[in-house]
Amino acid sequence: MAYHRSVLDLIGNTPLVEVSELSPNPEARILLKLEGQNPGGSVKDRVALAMVEEAEKEGRLEKGATLIEPSSGNTGIGLAMVARVKGYKLNVVLPASVSPERRQALEVWGASIIESPGPEGSNGAVRLAERLHAENPEWVFLYQYANRANPRAHYEGTGPEIWRDCPEVTHFVAGLGTSGTLVGAGRFLKERNPKIQVWAVEPPAGENVDGLRSLDDGYIPPIFTELGGPEILDRKTIANPRDSIVWTRKLADVGIFAGISTGAAMAGAIRCAESVPSGVIVAISADGGWKYLSTGAWTDEIDVVVERAKRIIYF
Ligand SMILES: Cc1ncc(COP(=O)(O)O)c(C=O)c1O
Repeated sequence: MAYHRSVLDLIGNTPLVEVSELSPNPEARILLKLEGQNPGGSVKDRVALAMVEEAEKEGRLEKGATLIEPSSGNTGIGLAMVARVKGYKLNVVLPASVSPERRQALEVWGASIIESPGPEGSNGAVRLAERLHAENPEWVFLYQYANRANPRAHYEGTGPEIWRDCPEVTHFVAGLGTSGTLVGAGRFLKERNPKIQVWAVEPPAGENVDGLRSLDDGYIPPIFTELGGPEILDRKTIANPRDSIVWTRKLADVGIFAGISTGAAMAGAIRCAESVPSGVIVAISADGGWKYLSTGAWTDEIDVVVERAKRIIYF
């Protein structure tokens, strides 16, 4: 009988699925890597496990230690799962304006939630986490934006898996949040074939697509600059909230139930397909659609969904 010793062994090795039916160019194939298949439901399970294991290796995490993280959603969930399995406590700092599902997902694995002021958004959560860490220096602050284990998880996992499953890849497209996916997997793919083009998908400055951020919004993640992000990225493309929702919805036509940032990545992949004579485009689907049901993205009038997404942080 084949079985896994721990649910943590199920992280990674996610499937690639072809969605070329949606490509505007018959010569440009599009494949999505379904990170929602990870046990905690997103690409961030890879990062959570890598950051915790790195801290363990460095001797920073003693038995029963407490972690603190300001998370825009999926990293908190991945960390909550990993921390629970490994016996650590987790405090997650979240803006008060997040959706109820987000809290509930964290509570599944027993994380404690500390609220930061809603209007200050995710930057306010980062500031509060820094302050709490200064007041409680025994807490371990992994901070995914500056933690090299984040891109390393993609350099050692996501990138090699894409190369193994689709060596024909010509373009790699992913949403940009911390930039860990693009910097890590992008670097790996370019080392194998320097002709592979790496495209980042960002929301317009000042607008929100859950999980993504614009580098023009004033905060550049340290891992992006320190690990050569500007040289790895060949192109940035903008996906606004409306396009992201439209493409999230269209993906259901091919059976894919994915989160809103997958719609953004798909909008980027479509633009890429339109701009090349031919190619094989691999895009990242960072998570599944479950956590976004209350956006109404699949059911409600698109203007209503776009307005709602301005007020509530879903993930
Ligand atoms: C739903 C979702 N999509 C995309 C991303 C972006 O990934 P990365 O942080 O590797 O840039 C994130 C990151 O938090 C996310 O939660």
